Amino acid sequence: MAELAYVNGTLSAIESARVPIEDRGYQFGDAVYEFIASYNGTLFCLEEHLDRLERSLRGLDFSPIPRDGIRKAILMLFEKASISRAGIYIQISRGAAPRNHLFPKSTSPQVVMTIREVEEKPAELRKNGAAAITVEDFRWGRCDLKTVQLLPNVLAKQKAIDAGAFDAIFISEGIVREATSSNFSIVSGGGIITHPLNQNILPGITRMVIIDLCKELKIPVHERFFNTEELFRADEAFLTGTVTEVLPIVQVDRRRIGEGRVGPVTQRLYEALRERAGA
Ligand code: PDD
Repeated sequence: MAELAYVNGTLSAIESARVPIEDRGYQFGDAVYEFIASYNGTLFCLEEHLDRLERSLRGLDFSPIPRDGIRKAILMLFEKASISRAGIYIQISRGAAPRNHLFPKSTSPQVVMTIREVEEKPAELRKNGAAAITVEDFRWGRCDLKTVQLLPNVLAKQKAIDAGAFDAIFISEGIVREATSSNFSIVSGGGIITHPLNQNILPGITRMVIIDLCKELKIPVHERFFNTEELFRADEAFLTGTVTEVLPIVQVDRRRIGEGRVGPVTQRLYEALRERAGA
């Protein structure tokens, strides 16, 4: 078992992996990424992550990169590292070239990856739920593309931690968007309400799986906008994401959500997700 880096086909220890200083991801944030987790030695939703990666690449007008090549590289790294509960970070930049805003003409994309053991969320948060704060959504207009331009997310997450909370939820014009690295849903009247897919949120793979599980479990799903008022009136609230899985949010801006403890719908969805993932 080894934590490893991959840089354009070459494997090494993570600490010794290097990219050129003129990589466009580094200078312009001109790069996209994915984060994929495995459970018991099997990557969860690999093809769905590859679909979204292709969509992000197209969204930034990258030249097409063969999907088979990316999949092969991911599987090779996963096999070499031999980590049963792994998190694979994949980043593809438009390449390294002398700094110029214009796309470079003859530069190949740079593909870098790391594989590490997944850092599980504290059991205490799963048992008792987590707190969140709300922040104004000051991100760009294409939050549906998974680009590495995450500074607003970084600042908001730090603000949450400094306030003694676990995460921050982006709000724009009163509408509840998503958290800093997870989608966000509420439970009301036994059904879930989640932001519809548009340019203001990331089309989360976990969100998609949860919607599918809701169908199986006969839990109604409403993909529609909801505002902070509805959030504060909700019975339950939860984050969904590759690392957060389904994480209960029991307090927002120091106000209790529902009864202020983990609700039955959230708990059922967490268990169903773990089962689907083969945990
Ligand atoms: N974050 N929304 C945002 C802004 C995210 O960054 C993520 C994922 C999600 C959830 O997507 P998914 O269910 O596909 O993981 C929603 C990854 C894990 C990250 O930044 O590390």
